[in-house]
Amino acid sequence: MCGIIGYIGAKNAIPIVMEGLKKLEYRGYDSAGIAYFNGSSLEVKRCKGKIKELDNIVSSMNITSNLGIGHTRWATHGKPSTENAHPHRSNSIVIVHNGIIENYLELKQELINEGYAFTSETDTEVLCHLISKFLPGNTLEDAARNAVKKLKGAYAFAAMDENAPDKIVAVRKESPLVIGLGEGEYFLASDVPAFLNHSKEVIFLDNNEMAIMYRDGVIVTDLDGSPIQKDVVTISWSPSMAEKGGYKHFMLKEIYEQPRAVADTLMGRIYPDKGEVALDEFGLTSETIKNVKNIFIAACGTSYHAALVAKYMIEAMARVPVDVDLASEFRYRNPLLSPDTLFISITQSGETADTLAAMREAKRLGAKVLTICNVIGSTASRESDYVFYTHSGPEIGVASTKAFTTQITALYLLAVALASANKTISTQKASELLTDCLALPAKIEKTLELDSEVLAIAKEVHKAKDFLYLGRGVEYPIALEGALKMKEISYIHAEGYPAGEMKHGPIALIDSDVPVVALVPGGQLYEKLLSNIEEVKSRGGMIIPVTAGDKPQLKEVSSRTITTESSNEYLDTILMTVPLQLLSYHVAVLRGCDVDQPRNLAKSVTVE
Ligand code: AGP
Repeated sequence: MCGIIGYIGAKNAIPIVMEGLKKLEYRGYDSAGIAYFNGSSLEVKRCKGKIKELDNIVSSMNITSNLGIGHTRWATHGKPSTENAHPHRSNSIVIVHNGIIENYLELKQELINEGYAFTSETDTEVLCHLISKFLPGNTLEDAARNAVKKLKGAYAFAAMDENAPDKIVAVRKESPLVIGLGEGEYFLASDVPAFLNHSKEVIFLDNNEMAIMYRDGVIVTDLDGSPIQKDVVTISWSPSMAEKGGYKHFMLKEIYEQPRAVADTLMGRIYPDKGEVALDEFGLTSETIKNVKNIFIAACGTSYHAALVAKYMIEAMARVPVDVDLASEFRYRNPLLSPDTLFISITQSGETADTLAAMREAKRLGAKVLTICNVIGSTASRESDYVFYTHSGPEIGVASTKAFTTQITALYLLAVALASANKTISTQKASELLTDCLALPAKIEKTLELDSEVLAIAKEVHKAKDFLYLGRGVEYPIALEGALKMKEISYIHAEGYPAGEMKHGPIALIDSDVPVVALVPGGQLYEKLLSNIEEVKSRGGMIIPVTAGDKPQLKEVSSRTITTESSNEYLDTILMTVPLQLLSYHVAVLRGCDVDQPRNLAKSVTVE
């Protein structure tokens, strides 16, 4: 997820664009840049690093301009570097882009064959050359329309043409774009906070819409050029609320970003009709994957819970033995790895000290290392043999949410790929498993509609002193994750436990003031969970069942049953995680806790 800002008007664009980039820094912060018209040509200033690096460059120059665009990057294609930073340029065209162009490699090859030279690894540069290619004899807007017709994927971009310095052209498909309306001046951004100090009157672009911004007005059209009448919305948020997209906390915003995050993580990586996963997205080949005889996964915290889910998925689908350990334990127990072990590290930040140490130990023992990571250019991604990036966008809230569900998504694809390579599932089955992914973002979206139901339960239980989370099979790690979410942001003691272990001790804890969240799967374990629930109820315990897909019998057992959308047994783990995230969030808010920065915690534990 990146941040885009643009300005055209009578004021100096440079401070407005720089201020906008600072407001958008939460959307991405590994490199940044601006482009502006200096009266005779378009100039570009860009650099690796945070906005302040760019600010040092720009503020040392006395630039004035009435037309400018800016970009703060969260890398998806190509490492964080000045060459990969936006804006990108092709002849008289400069652009900034947010999104993922799925078919950029084939378009890039076509352009190279036509003589275009590339200076970056990005998909954005492909779009820039395409617009430049279609420009001769066309307006900027027509060239952009022609270029867009060749694209697959998600994109929001803004473009300027040095030979037409009276406008900014912007297009939106999937990634957000909003226009701010002023007096003789217009703003463009990925998100409202970027210009909220200047305008509260906005137009939200919808998919496949184009805005052409002049100093004296904005025209919105479809991609055939037909004008579209858009409503003007008045923003009532405070600037602080605006940085969270209108949500009270980053954590809630990131819970609600999960449909998009999962969709972006899947984009360009699955071919359901062929039952294939794009192995090159993992950096793997069918040869390397066939030689994997056993897998060892190490991670910390929420990422460790994703590793446990992976064990169930990979062993069930691919019949490859998977060992999982906490990275902090792995690194000190003289582990048994061999050169045909595939070592997987899972880390949102890519900077967790224990996970990095575990990776280094695995490499020392001769294993190949695959990292599932959310930050391109992070230490973990640079030290791995293979990397699979979750495209969840920067995760600001300390409590990991969208990173977790996109990690499971990534590991699910790996499991399907391994199973296909080992022929432990048919092509038909692989096709079904990948087709289930297509509906997943919408099912997460629908599951988020349970928010008010979960809030009502949170109001009942937010004064509890202890929580118990129970799960069996692939839902056992989800019970652990639900408990971690609760304890780390509400400071209530919460424990995740295998439901089958209840009678071996924890049942002694059951009391009317100990809420028991029970994750109830379908299939062969359903009856088992029902009996565990009865064990709790018969001792006066408060049971909160969470299940994927309607189960009328469960509603009779407890009026607090939370029923999510359902998919297959593996992807149900993602759907059942969502209400647990919401429950911990609402309990923490009701308890007045600092949800985004819980006491004693850090977003990335870069020390032992
Ligand atoms: C999860 O909500 C916590 N913030 C924490 O357990 C986190 O998952 C852990 O520190 C691992 O971080 P990483 O994924 O960046 O390596």
